[in-house]
Amino acid sequence: MTARGDALLAAVAVSLMSVCLHAGFQQTGLQECHRCDGRLQDGSAVGNFCIASAGQVDGRCCLRHQGEQDRATIIGLDLSNCSLGNVEDLHEAITAVIIDLSANPIVNMSDSVFQGFTQLHSLRLPLPCQCPGGNESWETVEDIGSVCLCEGQRDACYSGGNMSWNCPENSLCGPYGPGLVQCSCSGDYHGYKCLRKGQFPMAEVLGILGASTIMVSGILWVTQRRKAKTV
Ligand SMILES: *[C@@H]1O[C@H](CO)[C@@H](O)[C@H](O)[C@H]1NC(C)=O
Ligand SMILES: *[C@@H]1O[C@H](CO)[C@@H](O)[C@H](O)[C@H]1NC(C)=O
Repeated sequence: MTARGDALLAAVAVSLMSVCLHAGFQQTGLQECHRCDGRLQDGSAVGNFCIASAGQVDGRCCLRHQGEQDRATIIGLDLSNCSLGNVEDLHEAITAVIIDLSANPIVNMSDSVFQGFTQLHSLRLPLPCQCPGGNESWETVEDIGSVCLCEGQRDACYSGGNMSWNCPENSLCGPYGPGLVQCSCSGDYHGYKCLRKGQFPMAEVLGILGASTIMVSGILWVTQRRKAKTV
């Protein structure tokens, strides 16, 4: 074979390899899906949901492909029986409609785990039943055998048909996960509690962002209804 032929062959091999690597990366791109062994099981709550919604199974996840780049997002996550003691971060599953964390010895679950999980409709947890945001943040809270079922997330901006009292003047309320709302300043207002009016001070916002992980941005913040405080 000529030197040129060798070079061509090498180029083809390299590009094939990079295609394979790329595909491999996409497969394992979502770490949450492979946090523990096994695959979604038919007959399980998340498995049934995945079949019904024509999702794609990847490890413990049910995925939906959407957007221009055909990006995969998690719509179902089953981390049941995964020996989880702590649940601190599930942000990869922020688009999930159903999450199963049952049959785990969870001793510690951070208050902010479900921050931003606005699509979450059904959550399974081990007992005792402690749904995030409290029972009032869900349509139904049920103790079914060894599983706590939190179902039908309520919009924390409205309680009993009334606008909640969480957001200050000059701001709009948006749901931001169970028992959580996000206040975003309206019009020209900005800053802490939307008390400032006028041009937006970028440097200050970046400073706030660096200093706090809870603060979503300078013009937004999250309040937790149950504890009735601004965080
Ligand atoms: C939980 O996981 C263990 C080990 O991975 C397995 O032996 C057991 O059957 C599982 N239990 C259930 C209810 O799936
Ligand atoms: C929430 O509801 C569950 C199931 O009915 C119950 O076991 C639990 O005690 C309730 N929690 C509170 C704080 O009322």
